[in-house]
Amino acid sequence: MAKPSPRFVCQQCGAVTTRWAGKCEACGAWNSIVEEAAREEVPKGLSGAKGRRIEFVALEGHAAPQPRLVTGIGELDRVCGGGLVPGSVLLVGGDPGIGKSTLLLQASAALSTGARVAYISGEEAVDQVRMRAHRLGHAKAGVALAAATSLRDIVATLDAPDAPAVVVIDSIQTLYSDGIEAAPGTVSQVRATSAELIRLAKRRGFVLFLVGHVTKEGALAGPRVLEHMVDTVLYFEGDRGHQFRILRATKNRFGATDEIGVFEMTEHGLAEVPNPSALFLAERRGNVAGACVYAGVEGSRPMLVEIQALVAPSALSSPRRAVVGWDAGRLAMVLAVLDARCGLALSGNDVYLNVAGGLRITEPAADLAVAAALVSSASTQPVPADMVVFGEVGLSGEVRAVAQAELRLKEAAKLGFAQALVPSRPGRGRGGGEAGPLAIRAVGHLQDVLGLFP
Ligand code: TYD
Ligand code: MG
Repeated sequence: MAKPSPRFVCQQCGAVTTRWAGKCEACGAWNSIVEEAAREEVPKGLSGAKGRRIEFVALEGHAAPQPRLVTGIGELDRVCGGGLVPGSVLLVGGDPGIGKSTLLLQASAALSTGARVAYISGEEAVDQVRMRAHRLGHAKAGVALAAATSLRDIVATLDAPDAPAVVVIDSIQTLYSDGIEAAPGTVSQVRATSAELIRLAKRRGFVLFLVGHVTKEGALAGPRVLEHMVDTVLYFEGDRGHQFRILRATKNRFGATDEIGVFEMTEHGLAEVPNPSALFLAERRGNVAGACVYAGVEGSRPMLVEIQALVAPSALSSPRRAVVGWDAGRLAMVLAVLDARCGLALSGNDVYLNVAGGLRITEPAADLAVAAALVSSASTQPVPADMVVFGEVGLSGEVRAVAQAELRLKEAAKLGFAQALVPSRPGRGRGGGEAGPLAIRAVGHLQDVLGLFP
């Protein structure tokens, strides 16, 4: 038999090459290419003649919508699009130690009151999981627990008419298929074991949760491969130094992708945070220069957070720019617009920007709040403590309208804010006079913001 030729696989994107290289041509990742044993090829001579005829059916006709399984953990259900669809596969990604196992054990325990749930751990021994369940107050939950890593054993167990309704695999990187000569956690293994489990979940109709660790570089091992294979991708994020944890859907075949769930890590596991704004603002100290409350929207939910900026004279030839919770490129843009369009040059200053509470903001609607925080810090004039800010900033310094303005204003009014700094052109969803008790200060250009800090 011919010796199989070597096969090099990028551990980031799964691209296959015949030679090793320092950089993956396909995705540009460095040092991600690893030699893996060749996979079995499709047997020669496999032609259409040997295939089975598939049956076509009419598009018309309706499948009875299967009821979703509701975990009862509201924040999780919402991110999943209102519960779990039978036969669907969810990937739960996140840094080690962020709380993936905790969340899934809590979800398993909650689901076990109405459905059969199997929790298969490849990372922890049965007793360790039991201890955790005890700590979470779910010691008596009816969850079937196993410690296993062999795909063959897992499939043999689950491929039965009485398969559980929900299966949790913690984590996909610990599983191995003995048909593949690569270490657990490599792209080949992750892809093969996931594919097999996904097929099984579809055939037997169970909900499959796959836990995936994120690598040091911030991506799931073989991320693109896995993300394409599953129905829903949930990322569990947050700063380990903070107690807040955000569950974010980045892909969902059964719901919206911009929803987030907010949790708080307590000594009894993850607690839901139904009103995140109040919590994010809890530690706020009013009337501090450089702090500004941004009225944001995450998915369908308004969320008020404090944006903190510190502008300080720099002793360095290239001053520092440090950002936590926002896009560094976006900060550079706001600084450039302040300089070029408003005459506020901060190029000789160190600039630090922080979104309080460990939230990561992705909306451009935060531009105006960031600018206000920067101007406030540079001028040492506090932004009024009862003011919220939102609006997008364009390259010519114009302040642009943003979506869901009314929702933002309502949340601000609910939390006792009295004024709002907003774009002068009303955005979609905001008619005049609907701001409730808030006093509206509309700005058309970033220059107007500087006017607020004489
Ligand atoms: P874990 O769920 O094991 O993380 P992952 O599976 O994503 O690696 O979370 C572990 C962390 O959570 C650990 O640092 C301890 C903390 N924790 C609590 O604070 N309270 C708890 O009740 C539990 C179970 C964990
Ligand atoms: Mg874990």
